[in-house]
Amino acid sequence: MTYRLGVIGGGVLAEALVKGLLSEHLYAPAEILVSHPRPDRRQYWQDTYGVAVSSENRAAAAATEVVLVAVKPQQFSQVTPALSQIHPQTVVVSVLAGVALATLEQAVPGAAWVRAMPNTPVQVRAGITALAWGSRVNEMQKQWVERLFLAVGQVVAVPESYLNGVTALAGSGPAYVAALLEGLIDGGVLVGLPRPLATQLTLQTVAGTVALLQQQGITPAELKAQVMSPGGTTAAGLLSLETQGVRGWLMQTVQAAYQRAQALGQTA
Ligand SMILES: NC(=O)c1ccc[n+]([C@@H]2O[C@H](COP(=O)([O-])OP(=O)(O)OC[C@H]3O[C@@H](n4cnc5c(N)ncnc54)[C@H](OP(=O)(O)O)[C@@H]3O)[C@@H](O)[C@H]2O)c1
Repeated sequence: MTYRLGVIGGGVLAEALVKGLLSEHLYAPAEILVSHPRPDRRQYWQDTYGVAVSSENRAAAAATEVVLVAVKPQQFSQVTPALSQIHPQTVVVSVLAGVALATLEQAVPGAAWVRAMPNTPVQVRAGITALAWGSRVNEMQKQWVERLFLAVGQVVAVPESYLNGVTALAGSGPAYVAALLEGLIDGGVLVGLPRPLATQLTLQTVAGTVALLQQQGITPAELKAQVMSPGGTTAAGLLSLETQGVRGWLMQTVQAAYQRAQALGQTA
């Protein structure tokens, strides 16, 4: 049996991506094989998505179009032997944070590598994926990879040197946004709103703000000026936000994740 897409490591990110691909019908379940060491996890994949599963990473590495390597960076050395017999036309996509193309190409010489940094909104086709092409990737392989990630959101091709920054901002970003949303919802509850209402108000306010920025092409600073009337409620709220140093805290958050991505790359 041959599979078009092989996935090595069926964890959180792999699941988000495969869920999006299946709902977009880019692949049928029968065209995907996921390899994973744990039997319970393999059973979960089989039951939930109907894809083929294997305990052997070699089975995923035998896919004819794309092999997705979705293990943790620390686990990379465990999976390289499986990739040694990769088919010449197959492109290997690494989502490993911080692991350089040079490291990947050295670990598996002969393979056509691409580094991809998607984020978890790919599971609802609202992700953004940055791609950095390795030296051996041909045009057909680029199209396969672009098509795969375009099915689940936006795609940007970037120089490899940007990828740790992309990881820190967009890869980890959904977790920061979720934490901020929790704070806003709790704020609504603090001032007396029922939690379901506070949640609805928060989610739609954030979604609406993003839509406004994207559709009007204005900067966040311009949007803030539109809302902030002299002596008003927004000005009072923003004074508190600025006094707490929220902007600096967010910058440090991205910086800390960037440094972690660099450190993980060095230990892989
Ligand atoms: N989560 C994100 O939002 C995100 C975003 C962008 C990129 N990434 C990247 O995606 C990769 C995976 O992250 P994740 O969050 O999905 O982590 P994860 O949930 O831990 O997924 C990795 C999976 O690989 C499995 N695994 C361990 N050793 C293996 C082996 N030898 N062969 C095959 N599978 C093996 C793990 O099994 P066990 O559960 O048994 O350990 C785990 O289920 C990382 O390199 C990360 O940098 C993640």
